[in-house]
Amino acid sequence: MPFAVVLILLVVGSILFHFLSPWTFTELASNWGMVDLTVDITLYVTGFVFVVVNLFMAYCVIRFRHKKDARAAYEPENKKLEYWLTGITAVGVALMLTPGLFVWAKFVDVPEDAHVVEAIGQQWHWTYRYPGVDGKLGEVDAERISADNPFGIDPEDPHGQDDVIVYNPEAHIPVDRPVKFLLRSKDVLHNFTVAQFRVKMDLVPGMNTFMWLTPTVPGRFEVLCEELCGIGHFAMRGAVVVDEAADFDRWLAQQTTFSEQSARAAGNATIGAAQYAVCAACHGSQGEGNAALNAPKLAGQPAWYLKRQVMSYKTGLRGVGPGDTYGQQMVGMVATLPDEASVDNVVAHIQTLPDNATVTTIDGDIARGQKLYTVCAYCHGGDGMGRQALNAPRLSGSSDWYLARQLRHFKEGVRGAHPKDYYGYQMGLLSQTLQDEQAVDDIVAYINTL
Ligand code: CUA
Repeated sequence: MPFAVVLILLVVGSILFHFLSPWTFTELASNWGMVDLTVDITLYVTGFVFVVVNLFMAYCVIRFRHKKDARAAYEPENKKLEYWLTGITAVGVALMLTPGLFVWAKFVDVPEDAHVVEAIGQQWHWTYRYPGVDGKLGEVDAERISADNPFGIDPEDPHGQDDVIVYNPEAHIPVDRPVKFLLRSKDVLHNFTVAQFRVKMDLVPGMNTFMWLTPTVPGRFEVLCEELCGIGHFAMRGAVVVDEAADFDRWLAQQTTFSEQSARAAGNATIGAAQYAVCAACHGSQGEGNAALNAPKLAGQPAWYLKRQVMSYKTGLRGVGPGDTYGQQMVGMVATLPDEASVDNVVAHIQTLPDNATVTTIDGDIARGQKLYTVCAYCHGGDGMGRQALNAPRLSGSSDWYLARQLRHFKEGVRGAHPKDYYGYQMGLLSQTLQDEQAVDDIVAYINTL
């Protein structure tokens, strides 16, 4: 008897949970209402079977429970009952499978007027490419991928010259226009998912896959990778911003094309030396850093990282978090660099400064730090030299007090708080793997040995 009561409570509880639970689908923001319908039908079919089977079981437990002197009747065959059961099961299975076939037929039939966006996945970030005015994407080849050509675009292919390249995890698309996402992976399996769009697709190395949708709601939607792709999988986030047509056109016009990027002049270290005078007041004339002024060492840090940080300060992505007083100081200082070219110049000058050893100021358990560092090594490298392809700066040879403070700031959300600071946000997520305060010192103490 208690077993029957448990079964009935399970059924009632499940139904109540389904209707009262706060966890529902995100609001639909694309044309794929069919997917929701398919999921609903499956849920109702399986839900109906779940309720009927469990209540029938409870009924049997009560009705045929042990009674003294009662004997069970043996009935191994019942043709009529079997016909009914087979028939009902067949209808249920057909109900669940058929809608999916219709959805899939539509999913592989991309509208002819769909515009194309290429989403490229790699451990652990997203980048995007749009065809230029010629409407065609240039040829790409994995062997051409380099620091200067992260998309591997063939420089000989005229279609590639006007390709718009977006080297950050945020794509824009216009509302109410079908868009075909071409999907390409540089390394392992990934999966491009925006929950509100309902459709998703794997990225397979060596293959081009695709999916399409018509966004129906303007707004900013989070991109998730839904294929386990390594230690940073959970932090492989991005965004798709659905714009009104005019906003989209304006945004697209501001982006860099492949030919513009190839033609960009390298920074001029001689001009940069004069502009560096402002930085030298805190960071030192040799870029050696000054702990008393909270200015970290700059010498030895790669150009791409220095530039991204200065640009992040300039564009309000960094130095805006609550309690980031030193970051706020930097926001004021970078204002003395009027444009991107002057940032390139200063960075070029910093590249000429000698990479002298820093003074060790942090003590910790080096052996424990080494164990904890294995997570960092995936991106920053076992030698702590950093990896541009993974957007990971150099750690070895840096001001150790600065590393420790930044790790704490990432953990506390002081740094990486801006929704568009994707790499800061990523570090925020990964820094949560450090469980205690001592772990920060231990890791930095280990980095000091690299
Ligand atoms: Cu990429 Cu998970």
